[in-house]
Parts: sequence; structure tokens; C-alpha cells
Amino acid sequence: MRVTTFGESHGKGVGVVIDGCPAGMPLTEEDIQVQLDRRRPGQSRLTTDRGETDTVAILSGVENGRTLGVPVTLFVANKDQRPGDYQSLRTVPRPSHADYTYQVKYGTRSSSGGGRASARETIARVAAGAVAEKVIRQLCGIDILAWVSSVGSLDAPGFDWGTIGRADVDVHAVRCPHAETADAMAAMIMAAKDRGDSLGGVITCVCRNVPAGLGEPVFDKMEALLAHAMLSIPATKGFEIGSGFGGTRMRGSEHNDPFVRKGDRLGTQTNNSGGVQGGITNGEPIVFRVAFKPVATIGLAQKTVDFDGNETVLEARGRHDPCVLPRAVPIVEGMTALVLGDMLLMQKMRETAQHALR
Ligand SMILES: Cc1cc2nc3c(=O)[nH]c(=O)nc-3n(C[C@H](O)[C@H](O)[C@H](O)COP(=O)(O)O)c2cc1C
Repeated sequence: MRVTTFGESHGKGVGVVIDGCPAGMPLTEEDIQVQLDRRRPGQSRLTTDRGETDTVAILSGVENGRTLGVPVTLFVANKDQRPGDYQSLRTVPRPSHADYTYQVKYGTRSSSGGGRASARETIARVAAGAVAEKVIRQLCGIDILAWVSSVGSLDAPGFDWGTIGRADVDVHAVRCPHAETADAMAAMIMAAKDRGDSLGGVITCVCRNVPAGLGEPVFDKMEALLAHAMLSIPATKGFEIGSGFGGTRMRGSEHNDPFVRKGDRLGTQTNNSGGVQGGITNGEPIVFRVAFKPVATIGLAQKTVDFDGNETVLEARGRHDPCVLPRAVPIVEGMTALVLGDMLLMQKMRETAQHALR
């Protein structure tokens, strides 16, 4: 599955063309809207109050509620553009945003709100991800779940995620399923918002019912593609799978995942590998974490320089997220679905060919 996204933050809208979606799959706008509603701004006081419904329209590739096997095009119109909010940013690049690097690269840039670097672009990823998710769920029951596992220095304790679903995550606006931690995270985010500041955090993602054998050695290893997908999300700063960086503090004897019989397949007793060995899924849940920075646009005064190098003080106006984590959960899920969808279709083709040749 290949996607091409288009559109800017304060232009007419944002969309995506999805190539490679198999024909004959039931698909409606409602299938996609569910995830877009979890990403859209203004869901709670913890997020930006830009007023968008982010209503998706299927423009091509679906007839009578079923995919045709040709490119599927999805479009979401922008409704609440306020380019005027970005007047002060015409001459001053926001520290740690993309204004300076886009200007250097293209010699020009979108005049308002980050253009392609804006998180509005992630609408397209979430929409395409919802389609990919339907493919992988129907083909083999793969189930993807992400949640906010830390905000700033506050970590949610480990818990048994074996049976929880998205409804359990969405009970709390912050999208951390651990009630006590969720309340404390929400209070931290509100305090940062009141100060005009921002906070980062970590999203954990698990993929259940993943068949063994997905991932394309040697360059397109499953973890390599997941890392690429996650680090392409705006504001991400880190990716770790399984034991991750913490695993470096263990010995091999502690870290190895011993094999055990699990029904008609081999499984592992522990899952420090995070469900991937040699770049190929081993049938255990894929478990990974993604780090998001505290976002760049803050209301506090910051000393910086303008595009000409003259010292100035920047106090951003406009509507911004004090912490992107709650809205980034469906983005992580969507990008994961696109990677798994691509790898699953590739492996299905290989298995069909191998079967025919034997
Ligand atoms: C859901 C989401 C919402 C975001 N909202 C904002 C925001 O309100 N203000 C901001 O400065 N950055 C926001 N960002 C991050 C910027 O898009 C990002 O920092 C910018 O494109 C620069 O890219 P980089 O941080 O990956 O280097 C958001 C990111 C995500 C995923």
C-alpha cells in the first residue's frame, strides 16, 4: 500500500491517494471518520481549539460501498483557516519549528501555520491508516492499540494491556488508560497551557494477532519500517521497540526470549524482542514506543532572531496544542496500519507464489 498526501494547513483542505488497496473490501466514510474524530482539534481543553469537524469525503476508488482496486482518494476540507494569526511569523522563524528549514530548502514557504509541516497533514495519514486497518483486520484480525504512556516526567505504571481496547483508552481525554495517571497528566497539561508553555511525552503501541513472517530483510525490516513511519510524524524524537534502550542494561541471559510451544506454533515466554526478530515478525505482539517533543509554538516570550538575523522577542499567537500526545494516538495507529498493511500484502503474494511453485 502506497500513499501520497497533499494539502496545507490553511489551504483548501488535506487529502490522500491510496494505491494498492485490494478490490472488493466494504468501505464507507464512517469507517474512516471514527479515527479522524479521535485526531481532530477541539476534542477537549487539553488540545488546540481550532474549530474543525474534519469530515472526510471519499472522492474515488469506491463504488456501492466496496473498493474497486483502483486508487482510493480521500479529502477533508479546511473550515477554520485563520492565516492572520500567523502575521507575526512572516519575518521570524519559530524556534524548533519548520519555518527556517522550509525557507532554506525551497526559497519560499507557505505563508501561514506551517503549511505541509503542520499537523493538519496527519489527517491524511489517519484517513489512509483507517483504510489499511480495515484491510489487515479483515485479512487476519490484526488489532492495533496505542495510548499515552508518559507526559513530561510522569510515567503510567505498567499494566496488562492484553484485553483493553480503544474505548478504554478514550475514557480519559489524555488517552492514558490508567485513571490516576491520566488525571495527573491532564492537570500537568492544563498547567502548561495556562503558562503558555508545552509538554512532550511517549506513546506506546501494541499490535496483536500479528502473524509470523511479516517484514522484508534486509533493508525493509519490520522495525526499520516502523521506525521510519513513526519518525515521519511531526514532533517525534525517538523510537524504541521491545526492550529498546532499556535492554542495553540487561545481560543476554536475562534478555533472551526463550521459545515455548503455543498451540500449533512456537511462541516466546518473554517479549524483549518486541515481536520482531531478524526484521521479521515472530507471532508475538509487536510492542514499541514513540517519543514526542514539547511542541515548538508557545505563548511565552522567547528571545530569537528574525530571518535577517536581527534580535527580537517572539510571543506566538494562534491556536496551538500544549501537548500533542492525546491527538497523536490515532496518528501512530494509522502509520502502524500502513506499514503492516504493506508488509501483509507483500507476504500474501509471496506465500501464493511459493505455494504455486511447490
Ligand atoms: C497532532 C499534532 C499536533 C501538533 N500541533 C502543533 C502545534 O499546535 N504547534 C506546534 O508548534 N507544533 C505542533 N505540532 C508539531 C509540528 O507539526 C512540528 O513540530 C513541526 O512540523 C516541526 O517538525 P519537527 O518537530 O518534527 O522537527 C503538532 C504535531 C502533531 C503530531
